[in-house]
Amino acid sequence: MTTKTKKLLDRHAILERNATLLLVSSFLVVTIGGIIEIAPLFWLENTIEEVEGVRPYSPLELEGRNIYIREGCYVCHSQMIRPMRDEVERYGHYSLAAESMYDHPFQWGSKRTGPDLARVGGRYSDEWHVDHFINPQSVVPESVMPKYDYLLRTKLKTEHIGDLLETNAMVGVPYTDEMISVARSDIEVQVDPFGDTDGLLERYPGAVVRNFDGQPELTEMDALIAYLQMLGTLVDFSTFTAEASR
Ligand code: HEC
Repeated sequence: MTTKTKKLLDRHAILERNATLLLVSSFLVVTIGGIIEIAPLFWLENTIEEVEGVRPYSPLELEGRNIYIREGCYVCHSQMIRPMRDEVERYGHYSLAAESMYDHPFQWGSKRTGPDLARVGGRYSDEWHVDHFINPQSVVPESVMPKYDYLLRTKLKTEHIGDLLETNAMVGVPYTDEMISVARSDIEVQVDPFGDTDGLLERYPGAVVRNFDGQPELTEMDALIAYLQMLGTLVDFSTFTAEASR
């Protein structure tokens, strides 16, 4: 050992022999590290990279999302694909931060009694979802998922959708006054395959318009399936690269 390093270690011995000094010094080091990590976030406009295709939920999808939360689907299902090989091969491209930027509250979850649902959109037909909700064991015999058949009999109440959009706007989702004022009729438009959908599609590009539960009435099942069918479908991963999004 050179004399220089020995001198340095001797000085460090002062710290090692004095518990209070060591405690205060450790605290100082952690504080400086913490400030360097956290402080820049206060000056950044946005910490989420914007990604093409991501848009706020349509009013019908937002209703479905509320039902998803009300029914506690998150107790058994996560909505976040981690960037690990087994997950990516099973569920598709790992989740991007931007894909849940309009989620209040987010539904990432941590429990997977059932599969991750972040990219379930388009994986099954609407009819499959209806059958599955009426009786999960009819399509997946070993399933432990409970029945949600009553959603097919429960009319969707839409009188508070304007308030729901407004509340989301308050926490930063870019819903405009126009979107809020026509939210109720946008719900009707999205389940009517023969209606005039131009306005809806301009406000919510790529929104799927159809009768989701196959029944004439507007039910909670319509809303829930509309929500599930759009999950993970907004970003086109055939053209997405992490660089291109910057
Ligand atoms: C008790 C746990 C539990 C709850 C609560 C639950 N599920 Fe499931 N879910 C499962 C299990 C287990 C499976 C896998 C077997 C199957 O497909 O039924 C599943 C499968 C699914 C699938 C098919 C996913 C795929 O990729 O195959 C969808 C969609 C789904 N659930 C939606 C929901 C929704 C929406 C709710 C709330 C209304 C819900 N689940 C509530 C356990 C649950």
